[in-house]
Amino acid sequence: MSSLMITSEAPVRPPTGRIRRRASCPALGCPSSTKDSLLHPPSSPLTRRRRRTITITATTGGCTPSSIQWVLDTRPLWPRATRTAQLADHAARALAVLPPHERQEVLRYVHVRDAKMALGSRLLKRYLIARYASVPWDRAVTTRNSDTKPVFRRPDGSEPLSFNVSHQAGLVVLVASVLRPAELGVDVVCPTERRDRDLGLIRAEGWPSFVDMHAEVFGRDEVSRLHGLGSTLRDQDHRLRYFYTLWCIREAYVKMTGEALLAPWLRDLEMRYFVPAEDASASQTEIWLRGRRVDDVDLRLVNVLAGFTVCTAVRRDGQGAGGLELGEYELLDVEEVISFGERSRRGAGPESRLVESHKEESACLENIA
Ligand SMILES: CC(C)(COP(=O)(O)OP(=O)(O)OC[C@H]1O[C@@H](n2cnc3c(N)ncnc32)[C@H](O)[C@@H]1OP(=O)(O)O)[C@@H](O)C(=O)NCCC(=O)NCCS
Repeated sequence: MSSLMITSEAPVRPPTGRIRRRASCPALGCPSSTKDSLLHPPSSPLTRRRRRTITITATTGGCTPSSIQWVLDTRPLWPRATRTAQLADHAARALAVLPPHERQEVLRYVHVRDAKMALGSRLLKRYLIARYASVPWDRAVTTRNSDTKPVFRRPDGSEPLSFNVSHQAGLVVLVASVLRPAELGVDVVCPTERRDRDLGLIRAEGWPSFVDMHAEVFGRDEVSRLHGLGSTLRDQDHRLRYFYTLWCIREAYVKMTGEALLAPWLRDLEMRYFVPAEDASASQTEIWLRGRRVDDVDLRLVNVLAGFTVCTAVRRDGQGAGGLELGEYELLDVEEVISFGERSRRGAGPESRLVESHKEESACLENIA
C-alpha cells in the first residue's frame, strides 16, 4: 500500500487540531463569554485553511476513501443584508452562480439567517460535486434517492461521492466521502440557541415535562435516561447539553439511513450511554435498534467553534474496517467557493486553472468509478 500525496488548495490537516478561530452563537443574543462558560472549553477540532493537501492512500485497485468535513459560518457573511430580499444585492455574486430556481428558493425564506444557510448549503454541495466528481459547476446538481436523501448521481446512475449536510444557528456543515460512496449522516446542534426559551420552560413546567414535550422523537429508554438527569445533574445547562447531544446523535443516525421522519423505527431506536462531547474524549454511545445492538456504525461527536456540536454517523463497509476516516473540520472561505463556481461557469469548466489544481483528485476518482 503506497501513499499518494495530492496537493490542492490547503495544507494537510494536522493530526490533532486546535481551535483556530472562535465565534459566538448569535441566535441567543447573549455575550460569547457567557456561552463559552456554559459550554466549558468546547474542544474544537476546526481549522481555517485556504490551501490544503489531501492524503489519499493508493491501493492496487485505486484509492481508499478520503473524507471532506467542511464548516461554513454564514453569520459574518453579507452583514448588510438584514432582510432576506437584501441578499439579492449584498450576496449577488453568490446567488449568481446558482440557477434561477435555486436563487428563488433561497430568497423565499422569511428569516435572512435561514436564507443565508440555504444559500451556503447550495454553494457547498455544488462545490463538492464540481470539484471532486469532475463535473461542470452547472451540472453539479443533486437529486434525491428513494428515501428522499439528497445524493449526486451521474447520468449512468453511479454515485461517485456521498455527502450529507446539516445547518443550525448560522453554521452549515457538510461531510462527504469523496472517493467512494459511504452511508453517512451529519447533524449540527447549537445547545444554547434557544437557551432562554428552554430554561424558561424548565422553570415553568419542570425538567420532566420539558423532556416529555419532546418524547415522541426519542426512544422510551432515552426518555427515562433524560428524566433521570433531573436528579443526577443539578446544572440545567448541563442537562440541556445532554438533551441536545442525544438529539444530534439521533439525527445523524437517522440522516445516515436517509429515512428521516419517515423511518417507522424511530421510537425503536435507542442511543445508550450518550454523553456530551466535552464530557468524554471518545464516543461511548451504543446504538440499539429494536432491542439489538447496531455495531457497524461509527458515531463521532465533536464540538466546533463555540457552542456547536456536530455528530457524524458512518456505516462501516462489509470488510469490517472503518469506511471513512474522519479528521478535523475545515472552516471554509465562501470566497473560495464562489470564485471556483465563477471560474468554472466562465466556460473553462473542468479545464479552468482552479479546477486544474484538483485534477489529480478527480483522476483518482475516475479510476475507481
Ligand atoms: C430533513 C431532516 C432529515 C433533517 O432536518 P433538520 O435536522 O431540521 O435539518 P438539518 O439541517 O440537520 O438537515 C437538513 C439537510 O438534511 C439533508 N436531508 C434532507 N432530507 C434528508 C434525508 N431524507 N436524509 C438525510 N438527509 C436529508 C438536506 O441536505 C438538508 O439540507 P439542504 O436542504 O440544505 O440540502 C428532518 O426533517 C428529519 O426527518 N429529521 C429526523 C427525524 C427526527 O424526528 N428527529 C428529531 C430528533 S431525533
